Amino acid sequence: MKIGLIGAGKVGCTLGKYFAERGIEVTGYYSRTFASAQEAAAFTGTKAYDDPAALIEESDALFLTVPDRMITTVYEGLRQYGLAGKMLCHCSGAMTAREAFPAIEQTGASGYSIHPLFPVSSKDESYLELEGAFFCVEGDDAHLSQWKTFLESLHLRVQIIPGDAKVRYHAACAIASNLYCALVQTSVELLEECGFTHALALEALAPLVRSNLQRILQVGPQDALTGPVERNDAGTVKKHLACIPEGTEQALYRAASAKLVEMASRRHPEEDYSALMDGLKGGTDPWPKTQ
Ligand SMILES: NC(=O)c1ccc[n+]([C@@H]2O[C@H](COP(=O)([O-])OP(=O)(O)OC[C@H]3O[C@@H](n4cnc5c(N)ncnc54)[C@H](OP(=O)(O)O)[C@@H]3O)[C@@H](O)[C@H]2O)c1
Repeated sequence: MKIGLIGAGKVGCTLGKYFAERGIEVTGYYSRTFASAQEAAAFTGTKAYDDPAALIEESDALFLTVPDRMITTVYEGLRQYGLAGKMLCHCSGAMTAREAFPAIEQTGASGYSIHPLFPVSSKDESYLELEGAFFCVEGDDAHLSQWKTFLESLHLRVQIIPGDAKVRYHAACAIASNLYCALVQTSVELLEECGFTHALALEALAPLVRSNLQRILQVGPQDALTGPVERNDAGTVKKHLACIPEGTEQALYRAASAKLVEMASRRHPEEDYSALMDGLKGGTDPWPKTQ
């Protein structure tokens, strides 16, 4: 399979280099600016194209590694060249193949979303760490299993998902990466209120965050859970709520803790967490009188 790339950015360079280094025929690059295509071609030992028609002609599969908002526009532009028999791929985590490549069946091409679940931060170094990364693949039935076999043969891991699960998949990725930032930021702000500088707060939290994350990844979040919610210590949780600013931060604490109660209940089915849960879900005076 000969692979061409449109968009010579971080993901385009990383995939092209990774493929080329493992003996895959990478035809080369077309990009918005010819200089980028030339740079990527030199990096991967492939060709720079100043005309997408020639790249399409010489490739079996085309990766549209352009920003998400440009994928459909670029695809629409490519339709004039004739795409029959080609496989079009994009790497967005948020969009399905069908959404990105509308009416692709009319072109005779097939469409795939091939999302690396991996932070690609560098054009010229990320390929070194890509081996073993997960790719979430979705799209036309015609070549779905071919893509799985192809990627797995390159020591990448593949999960095929149905198109209607793509948004849920993306939400899951955002929760693990982006939403986690909100929790750490809230923690840092509370430490700043205790007199820590921002830098010192990050330094102080580092061992806690690192070892917790390591444990979560080793045994799963439910078994990694410790702390007042897990201990059913409603008194401490109540004190926490009293000092956390009302509004976003308190809502975050309540919602995350309610999720923790669900997890703790599954871990300790003999324990009765209902008073703690009622308190977390309550209003301004959330705790039952017995607390
Ligand atoms: N970075 C990540 O961590 C990551 C992870 C998973 C998936 N993805 C996905 O991978 C895709 C690419 O992201 P990226 O991080 O590689 O972006 P990027 O580094 O910003 O690169 C995008 C490239 O697209 C080119 N481009 C923009 N408009 C174009 C057009 N109209 N025609 C041709 N080329 C065009 C740009 O070209 P010039 O250089 O010529 O201006 C740029 O090099 C996105 O769908 C993204 O969601 C990214």
